[in-house]
Amino acid sequence: MGMQSRNTNPSKSSSSSFLPPRCIPLLVFFSIFAFLFFFNLDTFLSRTKAIARHSFNEQTRLFMNAEGGNLEREFNITWGNGRAKVHNNGGLLTLSLDKNSGSGFQSKKEYLFGKIEMQIKLIAGNSAGTVTTYYLSSEGPTHDEIDFEFLGNSSGDPYTLHTNVYCQGKGNREQQFFLWFDPTTDFHTYSILWNPHRIVFSVDGTPIREFKNMESKGIPFPKDQPMKVYSSLWNADDWATKGGLVKTDWKKAPFTASYRNYKADACIWSEGASSCNSKSPTSNSIDYLWMSEKLNSTSLERMKWVQKNHMVYNYCIDKMRFPEGLAPECKFS
Ligand SMILES: *[C@@H]1O[C@H](CO)[C@@H](O)[C@H](O)[C@H]1NC(C)=O
Ligand SMILES: *[C@@H]1O[C@H](CO)[C@@H](O)[C@H](O)[C@H]1NC(C)=O
Ligand SMILES: *[C@@H]1O[C@H](CO)[C@@H](O)[C@H](O)[C@H]1NC(C)=O
Repeated sequence: MGMQSRNTNPSKSSSSSFLPPRCIPLLVFFSIFAFLFFFNLDTFLSRTKAIARHSFNEQTRLFMNAEGGNLEREFNITWGNGRAKVHNNGGLLTLSLDKNSGSGFQSKKEYLFGKIEMQIKLIAGNSAGTVTTYYLSSEGPTHDEIDFEFLGNSSGDPYTLHTNVYCQGKGNREQQFFLWFDPTTDFHTYSILWNPHRIVFSVDGTPIREFKNMESKGIPFPKDQPMKVYSSLWNADDWATKGGLVKTDWKKAPFTASYRNYKADACIWSEGASSCNSKSPTSNSIDYLWMSEKLNSTSLERMKWVQKNHMVYNYCIDKMRFPEGLAPECKFS
């Protein structure tokens, strides 16, 4: 998750000198509105991140291949005071949110590269004002992060799937999508492929976004800091839905998101070493096909289809927000 979404409703005002004087009060009003909106979002996101990260600091010391499946074994509930629950002996995990608190969990293991997937069923009905996050993140001020975030909406209005990539503490790489199905009626699979060459976000096996390693062109890529998987459900009704205009309807609380079938084909990081290096690459190469996985022509076509038909925000074309110039990677995609 990140401080990114603040700019997804870029203010369309521009202070051109040809505007008649009566427009000026309106511009002042909009500037103040935009300022408050950005400021609140920042504060809220950093607060929630801090809660999620610092609820505990202990790290797992396990040396084994990631398997997933049992959510109780793979995750620790980190906050929410009983609002996060494991069911079916670890087969299902639910997060809930009410007026007093949201809830969250994080993986016990840390990974340095992997293919991580989870099935998630989002809040049904009126989810306006809520945000469900599911992301990979390292720690510290120059952290890396790979985000899925689901911004709730009023009944019948579409969830926004928000994505971002942080490298060395810097994000601002948002892309947002409307899904081609209702993510609240059933579980759907959200996965992150993270290998030394690329990051691919996929939904039900369809890639929606690729962030390539372009270090050779001077663009940073997350590849040195191990990350954990995090998820949380929280209230963000001061910005999430229609820029904060639509508030959370607490009469509908508690709001619940459900998780199952976690799977991590990943290199587990422990005490400064990767589980992938502890095996001879030849004998286990079959296990690590994802390490060099790339999009084939069929999946590239599908990704283009999603981006053409379902993308609703792209930082790579937002010149209004980046008047000094778009991010360098945008030239190559
Ligand atoms: C998970 O939480 C339990 C207590 O709830 C704690 O004992 C354990 O150390 C935690 N595991 C990790 C990896 O932090
Ligand atoms: C909610 O639905 C409206 C369409 O009614 C859409 O404009 C908006 O982007 C949706 N998402 C959020 C997070 O507001
Ligand atoms: C392309 O990749 C997808 C997803 O990994 C796979 O299901 C499909 O079989 C591949 N197609 C070809 C033609 O290799």
